[in-house]
Amino acid sequence: MRVRACSRARRPRPLSTKPVAGATTFAHRSHWARRVISASVTLFIVSCANFAGPPEVSPALIANARPDHVNAKELATGRHLFVSRCLECHTLPSVTKHSPGEWPHLVSRMSNRANLSADERNAIVAYLRAASIN
Ligand code: HEC
Repeated sequence: MRVRACSRARRPRPLSTKPVAGATTFAHRSHWARRVISASVTLFIVSCANFAGPPEVSPALIANARPDHVNAKELATGRHLFVSRCLECHTLPSVTKHSPGEWPHLVSRMSNRANLSADERNAIVAYLRAASIN
């Protein structure tokens, strides 16, 4: 019994005997397929051109973080955590999408989801607060 079931599983599935879509609708379909492909290619090119990534830890960004008493090392840690842990479920939000005042609350809301420790959460908040000022 087992052997038979196994050999049956390995056999390729027979090709569908269903008739292919009628010739009249085929031209229509390939027209749409072409439109979808060209739209996807365009979107891909546009999104690549627009993707700048979150800002690097620059002297200006370090200056922004001075009132929070955050140093360059912690900002770099925050940026690294942000780019690696905040796109597991959605695309990386733009750092300027929210204000320095909004980020702490948002990151708190996300930190359970992203399994962040308190230190990791603080580093991400510090980076986002400094980066969102620009
Ligand atoms: C486990 C999945 C998961 C992870 C990891 C995660 N998020 Fe989210 N995030 C969501 C979901 C789901 C939503 C949409 C529902 C909501 O807003 O609660 C969301 C929404 C958001 C929003 C939208 C709020 C808005 O209106 O702009 C922001 C900003 C955000 N996340 C930031 C982050 C940041 C920063 C991190 C990293 C610390 C992160 N997320 C990590 C699941 C996640």
